[in-house]
Amino acid sequence: MQDFFEFRLTPRVMYKSGLAFDMSAELATLGGTKAFIVTDAGVLKSGLVDRVREAISAVIEVVGVYSDVPPNSSVRVVEAAAAEAKAVGADILVAIGGGSPLDTAKGMRIILTEGGNLLDYEGVNVLERPLVPMVAIPTTAGTGSEATNFAVIKDDDNHVKLSFTSPYLAPELAILDPQMTATLPAHLAAATGMDALTHAVEAYVSVEHEPMSDALALGAIEMVSNYLREATHQGGDNENARGQMLIASAMAGIAFTNAYVGAVHALAHATGGHFPVHHGLANSIFLPHVIVFNAPAEPERYSRIGRAFGVNTGGRSREEVIGDLVAAITQLALDCDLPIRLRDAGVPEDALEMLAEQAFGDGALYHNPLPATAEDLLGILRAAW
Ligand SMILES: [Fe+2]
Repeated sequence: MQDFFEFRLTPRVMYKSGLAFDMSAELATLGGTKAFIVTDAGVLKSGLVDRVREAISAVIEVVGVYSDVPPNSSVRVVEAAAAEAKAVGADILVAIGGGSPLDTAKGMRIILTEGGNLLDYEGVNVLERPLVPMVAIPTTAGTGSEATNFAVIKDDDNHVKLSFTSPYLAPELAILDPQMTATLPAHLAAATGMDALTHAVEAYVSVEHEPMSDALALGAIEMVSNYLREATHQGGDNENARGQMLIASAMAGIAFTNAYVGAVHALAHATGGHFPVHHGLANSIFLPHVIVFNAPAEPERYSRIGRAFGVNTGGRSREEVIGDLVAAITQLALDCDLPIRLRDAGVPEDALEMLAEQAFGDGALYHNPLPATAEDLLGILRAAW
């Protein structure tokens, strides 16, 4: 165990079906009077934004809505949205959506509070004071962004994903409402659920793991293994499964905001920077292969993950359990109709070397239980292709 660790429980998390449409009491405690909504076109079209807007308007003024957030948000998008919010005097942000709108709002908070260029605040703990308050209402389960200190935002000019890390980036309030994920398309429910699983697995085996993040990670792993299939295929009809996935996603978010992620995310960041592969799908494809690579460094921990994932452990060796875990994760992806090969996700074979180099430079690798060279990463990419 670690001699020293720091564990933060940053956002106030509230769960209730329908809470996003009835949150006046909670909103009134945050101090803002001019709310600005950040979302994407798909969520806007679903009608959910109008209902949340109505709920906000019951307590404070809604001064604007920015709905042009693309699937992988970028510095340019954040700066454009922040300029709009600033022009209307916004003093509280309400982000409604998946990871991209939530991370966009996090970037906007920096600009609205500190001014200047977003890029000046890239990195770890650059921010020194609280930011314009933010409410996060996830519509996927998920990135966990509603519960993390991170924002990942693409640099438009050189295709890299920049990361911003600070406790001040965590939203003041995270509203988990399964009515907000009722219209989520099956392929997105599946891909984002695999992202949550990856956060929990990577946090559990991270070199930064500690008992408190471990508990949240194992709990999230068990919930994803029990509920992702139902949440994907029964979607709108199964509020319990969607609720469980929302909670699992936030738990995994709190786990990895403390213990960080590893090689799966390094590979997914590189892939998502160059090809339009959904972040959760990229993680889903790499996760089994990274487990095979990492297992010799943490056999005990991976077999414990196997138990949480429902693998039969009775009288079996750790290696057998880990083998079954890899098969069970692959089967979960297949059951959720996700492609399991990189070639089927639109990544050409001749890009693998470049992706290995790029992933080798990703900060997530620092926390991977086994040091990985660019050559190792290329091996994982080839196995996944
Ligand atoms: Fe992720």
